Amino acid sequence: MPAISASAPGKIILFGEHAVVYSRPAIAIPLMQLKATAFFLADPTAPLGNIKLTAADIGMQTNLNDLAEDHPFRVLFQLVQNHFQLDHFPAMSVKIRSEIPIAAGLGSGTAVSVALIHGLSLFLGAKLSAAQISALAFEVEKVYHGTPSGVDNTVITYEKPVFFMKDHLPEPIYVGNDCTFLIADTGIKSMTSSVVGEVRINWENNRKHYESIFDSIASITQEAKEMLISGDEKQIGELMNKNYHLLVQMGVSCDPLDHLVTVALHAGALGAKLSGAGKGGNIIALVQESSARDVRLALENAGATRVIQITLNKTESTKTAKKVIS
Ligand code: PMV
Repeated sequence: MPAISASAPGKIILFGEHAVVYSRPAIAIPLMQLKATAFFLADPTAPLGNIKLTAADIGMQTNLNDLAEDHPFRVLFQLVQNHFQLDHFPAMSVKIRSEIPIAAGLGSGTAVSVALIHGLSLFLGAKLSAAQISALAFEVEKVYHGTPSGVDNTVITYEKPVFFMKDHLPEPIYVGNDCTFLIADTGIKSMTSSVVGEVRINWENNRKHYESIFDSIASITQEAKEMLISGDEKQIGELMNKNYHLLVQMGVSCDPLDHLVTVALHAGALGAKLSGAGKGGNIIALVQESSARDVRLALENAGATRVIQITLNKTESTKTAKKVIS
């Protein structure tokens, strides 16, 4: 029997991280050039329910049942088993591979979850809608992060730039002009759950201040949506800078992130900000095609451990314009 496989991309948050946890909107885009893939092969020689798991990138080779009950992989398989009301899974061997850097705000854990859930459904010969895959991945996100907003599982499942708000249907965003971004990694690993936890403590201690930061970020994100649609790069860049300063006020930046943001702006970026939870991970900078090379070189010279370039393409995006994701 041939192996079944499913892939899911990484992601980057363009606007609204952290505020999105507090029911404000965020804008995120998929990183199609970085993927996590899950491969499934039936194992007729093994007893029913026996699942061998290999994830070479994290040095894992185990039987699913040998993992702790609250391990995200265990929880994921249990969720899918419950969804399909199965007594047991058929015996199988599952291999996970990922090109997405871990703990860098690029959605590595979520992409693995989406690839596993999607692949498992295909392996079972069943079908899950994107909404069902995203909802199951969201349950696994809770194991990783405690209080996830849902933006990661949404953008990674739908593989489209999205305007996301908790408890609302996600809206795809179609840009009015090609937009090129550079994503530069500080090389510092940061755990989303701990930074989100710190923000929660600060919010509990000073709700008024934090609510007003979240409100300001919400207005920026709303405006950014309009500017992305109209393709006004200059405004998008300025809004990224404003969002960045609010993230600094929130206390989630750090010297290496600040340094890369400054370097990108000095080298000609139209705007730059940290992306994701912060305290490490990546910055994202908006650049014109003509200055992309200079900004990239400046970031590399400033110590970025990896620089990825992505373009949100106008024609690609308008092909299926105005459809609401469901
Ligand atoms: O996974 P990260 O580092 O991109 O962070 C996710 C974004 C947060 O807003 C900080 C958390 C969330 O659940 O939305």
